[in-house]
Amino acid sequence: LPMKFLLVTDLDDTLVGDDRATTKLSQKILACRDRLYLIYATGRSYAYARQLKVEKQLLEPDYWVTGVGTEIFHGDKQDTLWFDKLFQQWNREAIVKIARSFSDLIPQSLQEQNTFKISFCLNKPQNSSVLEKLQTELDRENLTYKIIFSSDRDVDILPRNADKGLAITYLREHLQIPAELTLVCGDSGNDISLFQQGTLGTIVSNARSELIEWYTYNKRQNIYLANSPYAEGILEGLAHFNLLV
Ligand code: GLC
Ligand code: MG
Repeated sequence: LPMKFLLVTDLDDTLVGDDRATTKLSQKILACRDRLYLIYATGRSYAYARQLKVEKQLLEPDYWVTGVGTEIFHGDKQDTLWFDKLFQQWNREAIVKIARSFSDLIPQSLQEQNTFKISFCLNKPQNSSVLEKLQTELDRENLTYKIIFSSDRDVDILPRNADKGLAITYLREHLQIPAELTLVCGDSGNDISLFQQGTLGTIVSNARSELIEWYTYNKRQNIYLANSPYAEGILEGLAHFNLLV
């Protein structure tokens, strides 16, 4: 029996963005559903990701990586092992206290916050020193964290051992899928970690500047910059790496 491959895709502005292309890709996947594992890796909360699945009639994935890698779900069951892993060295209250003192960091809605995800909108995108100052303040208190900046606007503060890429590596080890049989797809800053795990990767053509900039300095054979946007770009990537023919 040939080995299954793993398709990992971001949702907003990657799998979703061009409804026609999303449907086309879904049909392709359905035609060989038993040959692959499908994982959605999104910045959305689990509830909002599920909502998008209904709205856009997306396929049910094998796993959901939500909240920028802070949560993993199999069906509606949360992976408690992953949850426990992130608890190490995480002091949410201390980080919230410092971050809230920055007036240029506008808290996102309560639904976007979780135990391991503290999210803001940056008020002045042109003033990037806000994030540097935040970092300085957090370091002064010896806190461990990771800041992820996306779409020139979103600021996520996560535990150091959480992001989409680390969550996928954890699942890949569980499923025993080699990096060469894994394709990750994305469009923005919170997808950069996906491309840092040594797997195959496809950046859709509508990608945000922070991801394009990262790619410019980190070009490698296993990462393909598609000519097409959204799900059409994913289809292009699958063909480029000979995964779906
Ligand atoms: C999604 C999430 C938001 C997060 C952003 C970037 O839009 O809803 O909370 O900040 O992704 O990761
Ligand atoms: Mg996206």
